[in-house]
Amino acid sequence: MASPRRAPLVLACLLGAAALASAFEPPRILVELFVMSRCPDARRCEERMEALVQRIGPLLDMRTVYIADVGSDKRLKQVTCKHGPAECAGDAQQLCAAAYGRTDGAPGEPADPYALGWRFLQCQNDDFASVGDVQLAEKCLEVAGFNSTQAAGAIGCWAGKEGDRLLYASASEASWRRVAKSCTIYVDRLYRCTHDGATWYDCPGGSEVDDFVATVCAAYADAGGDWPQDLCGPAPDPETRAHLRLGGRGEGAEQQAATVEA
Ligand SMILES: *[C@@H]1O[C@H](CO)[C@@H](O)[C@H](O)[C@H]1NC(C)=O
Repeated sequence: MASPRRAPLVLACLLGAAALASAFEPPRILVELFVMSRCPDARRCEERMEALVQRIGPLLDMRTVYIADVGSDKRLKQVTCKHGPAECAGDAQQLCAAAYGRTDGAPGEPADPYALGWRFLQCQNDDFASVGDVQLAEKCLEVAGFNSTQAAGAIGCWAGKEGDRLLYASASEASWRRVAKSCTIYVDRLYRCTHDGATWYDCPGGSEVDDFVATVCAAYADAGGDWPQDLCGPAPDPETRAHLRLGGRGEGAEQQAATVEA
């Protein structure tokens, strides 16, 4: 005998589940770039990733991690950058811009968590010889569209100890994740591709913009959403889709070396 008091609860749960299913949007797919801010390979890599952002920006979240020498004495928290102190400054500026430009899509805020920091980085790359320069950094905050609160936060960050702390944490992360080549790309926490010495190599799934689009789209759909056809085009057959998700260093990772004109 069913208790009549139970019926409304069951009904409520079913309705709740149905509402949840139709509203489900998978989280953005994390694209991580391990870079050095004054490295020409990083610049080329970020240019290709900008093409990815243009195509399917709303499906992804972009983050940069900075490769630098953190030294053997961890107490010193010292960071040495391959392209000199200006690079360390540029790295810290990009980390600060990413941190203070980040919004999480609360009501009234842009729903794009990485756009400001990413535009800041692209603006610096447009004047590549000056990456690390404070005047360029301040100009790029404006170009990228930081409001006064966000800009003040970013400037305070790179002018003070916070920028150093962010850089130390970032370089430590690159070190414990054993990434040493700028630029190394991870998608959805899986190794995906390297651009180094003006060459794209070790890229299971390919290194063209279309290939990165395909990987992010497949990861997004695998996370439980519908295939995002409006941005990704028609869904591929399941076998192709499984292949797109292949990642991991050494696992079928044929060297796909393709030299690009620098
Ligand atoms: C700047 O943007 C942030 C995030 O959207 C917001 O919280 C803050 O109030 C804004 N500040 C100004 C001065 O508009």
